[in-house]
Amino acid sequence: MPDPLTAVHERLDEQHAAAVDRLRALLAIPSISTDEAFDAEVRRAADHVAGDLSSLGLDATVHDTPGHPMVVAHDPGPGDGAPHVLYYGHYDVQPPDPLELWDHDPFDATIVEGPHGPRIVARGACDDKGQLMTFVEAFRAWKAVHGTLPVRVTVLLEGEEESGSQSLDAFLVAHRDELAADVGVVTDSGMWDIDTPAITTMLRGLVYLEATLHGPSHDLHSGVYGGAVLNPNNALARILAALHDEDGAVTIPGFYDDVRPVPDDVAAQWEALGFDEPAFLGGVGLAEPAGERGRSALQRMWARPTCDVNGMWGGYSGPGAKTVIPAHASAKISCRLVADQDPDTVEAALLAFLKGRTPPDFRWTIDSHGASPAISVPTDSRWVRAAARGLERIWGRPPVLMGCGGSIPAVGSMQRLLGFDSLLVGFALEDDRFHSPNEKYELVNFQRGAKAQAAMLAAFAEA
Ligand code: BES
Ligand code: ZN
Repeated sequence: MPDPLTAVHERLDEQHAAAVDRLRALLAIPSISTDEAFDAEVRRAADHVAGDLSSLGLDATVHDTPGHPMVVAHDPGPGDGAPHVLYYGHYDVQPPDPLELWDHDPFDATIVEGPHGPRIVARGACDDKGQLMTFVEAFRAWKAVHGTLPVRVTVLLEGEEESGSQSLDAFLVAHRDELAADVGVVTDSGMWDIDTPAITTMLRGLVYLEATLHGPSHDLHSGVYGGAVLNPNNALARILAALHDEDGAVTIPGFYDDVRPVPDDVAAQWEALGFDEPAFLGGVGLAEPAGERGRSALQRMWARPTCDVNGMWGGYSGPGAKTVIPAHASAKISCRLVADQDPDTVEAALLAFLKGRTPPDFRWTIDSHGASPAISVPTDSRWVRAAARGLERIWGRPPVLMGCGGSIPAVGSMQRLLGFDSLLVGFALEDDRFHSPNEKYELVNFQRGAKAQAAMLAAFAEA
């Protein structure tokens, strides 16, 4: 009997140009979840992906939440008794700002030649629209060729991943039965390099605060008042600068209390990956390593917590000079967390750090943009072995097991609330410019990714 996968792969090759067109149509919708001015576009993207899933025969529903909609779709596969796999992705994207740094319109995807062949450039190309379309295209091809998927499939597509997944937990609880599965496949992460697939086994968590320091009752002339009043910009800069010491360590009291060292076997495995730090930094125009002194780069990115200022503003930043002491100054501050750190404890410690430094007469207003713990998933199970077999079929080498410095709250939420682990398998590269201008996805990875999703479907059916 011919291998059922071969025909699916042929179909994916025939369909490649059409698949790229379908991806472009999704990329054209500016589904920016963090900016309410785009709420209607986020919904349009949910309707669009649900319509696409329906068109290939899945039973798809757009569910309202207090935030952005969730798209859930089902395919019975060969029926009861077959393995049941939940596929997760997110159809929302980050804001495209700063717009002037894009070479093309971020929502009119452009194909550009690069060292790995053509790449598609648009906001969401790799995070996460291009990635989620790898499993959608695999389902489409499989169903076109064989009529029925080889496993039971549930799809969960979120519209709030980039803005903190605030509605996710309640949704999972309310739809627990509908979302039951044996294992998750989360396609929102990267490969080790263009020739080496990866299964990500650890993600960092995140605590995100927006803090505004209020000083004088209104903006002041800096000549009339300068020297007599404290400037909120100056005060905030001093407080933020105090978050790190000379050795790059975070100074928030208790910050490292629950951080455990990386086990020796894991440290050795990471060492063996041969990470090229100068090349990594060179790719972003830098040469000098930063962060905590005395630890390897992969440990600093995958197994150590951080604290970063993601934005800061206050006073006048328009063209030319305006001499003003502003009434307030603001910053967006996030901490990446590692295993065993409790998000609420870290958030409280960060708040105490800020409040303990409030200048006389000044006060803070604080908004939380979410808190999620770090997670890790098993490195060995029949699902991991099946995924590894599928990936090896495409790249001719087994996947590496890697960590990841980013966060995907859904992985921990599904583990905690639905009771299954996820396989983090994605096809992005570290230079794909996640969250940056000129975000891109290599079309070779889009194509091999879809083939790998099909190969994993076949392997799950045998698991
Ligand atoms: N896809 C990313 C996470 C990621 C980044 C995985 C790089 C692998 C490599 C995800 O969409 C993301 O950016 N998540 C946010 C989550 C946050 C808003 C809670 C993040 O990590 O900042
Ligand atoms: Zn993502």
